[in-house]
Amino acid sequence: MHSLTHSFLPVALLTAASSAINLNVLNGQDFADPGLLEVNGISYSYSTASNRGAIPKTSNSSFNNAGGWAAPENSFPQDSPAQSPGGWAKAGTSWAPDVVQLTDYDSSFAMYYASEINGNGGQPHCLGLARNRDNPNGPFTDGSTQSFICPASEGGAIDPEAFLDDDNSRYLAYKIDGPFNGQGPCGGTQGNTPIMLQPLQHDGYTFNGDARQVWDAQSAGVLGIEAPALLKRDGVYFLFYSVGCYAGNDYRTDYVTASNIYGPYSNPRTLLQTGDFGLFGPGGLDVVPGSLHATFHSLIQSGNVSAGRQLNTVVLSVNGNTATIS
Ligand SMILES: *[C@@H]1O[C@H](CO)[C@@H](O)[C@H](O)[C@H]1NC(C)=O
Ligand SMILES: *[C@@H]1O[C@H](CO)[C@@H](O)[C@H](O)[C@H]1NC(C)=O
Repeated sequence: MHSLTHSFLPVALLTAASSAINLNVLNGQDFADPGLLEVNGISYSYSTASNRGAIPKTSNSSFNNAGGWAAPENSFPQDSPAQSPGGWAKAGTSWAPDVVQLTDYDSSFAMYYASEINGNGGQPHCLGLARNRDNPNGPFTDGSTQSFICPASEGGAIDPEAFLDDDNSRYLAYKIDGPFNGQGPCGGTQGNTPIMLQPLQHDGYTFNGDARQVWDAQSAGVLGIEAPALLKRDGVYFLFYSVGCYAGNDYRTDYVTASNIYGPYSNPRTLLQTGDFGLFGPGGLDVVPGSLHATFHSLIQSGNVSAGRQLNTVVLSVNGNTATIS
């Protein structure tokens, strides 16, 4: 029996057999930590900084367009006050944006993102909020002189995930970046990588009580977790997250479920890992609750994050407390 050594073969076979997933829809462009937004039938995705801009954006009117999405363009000008000299954020350091439409408020678009705090030497990332009144293409601007959420002594905060519950309560989930302090994966030791949940008022900005920890690496039984994404379906809350070091093939996408948004979450299971659909290190998943459309990235080259991360799209199947890709 011959093994399939040509890299295009397994991908082509599996893509043909499974219309729910489309791989590398930007044809090899780097597009990491993709946030997904859908408005009026158009899908928008936003990524970590790359040579395409501070926060690159792509879109398509057909989510399942296997032929590719629009070429990424910047959605976040470098001259946004937050990333200008004197602003709170350092230009070119934005990670893992999440964009939502504040349908429960004024229908404007809110972009939550992480950037390194301006300062001398190595600084942690913290969360900022940029807005566009009516255009999901941007430009998004952040006029704040201070970050939005910033547990700096704990390593900072990254990977924001905005979520509107079906009782119309608004939240922002994020990760406390313990790895900045040498904890968690990518060479660190087991430590602090909790996923926090901050209740917000409808303006998407004003705190509505204190943030609470909802999940962490120890509970998951792994070295580190990040990139939370929330979904509620038939009364079940799904918390998706990435496990391991983003730079390697051991990075994967797991999830837990609960009947209350604050938990307790339990029963960790793997949704996507290296080898599935010919992928390397799949993570950074974001899901749109209504359509179950999701985006995630994976390493373009096995074990080599320097070669970039590709954008993949998938339609999730959810049944009870189980999520699958069919
Ligand atoms: C969808 O992708 C195609 C192919 O890249 C592109 O030409 C088109 O502009 C995209 N549509 C939208 C609405 O972005
Ligand atoms: C990893 O990718 C970079 C960028 O494409 C390339 O220069 C380097 O040679 C690659 N490393 C390996 C081991 O292939």
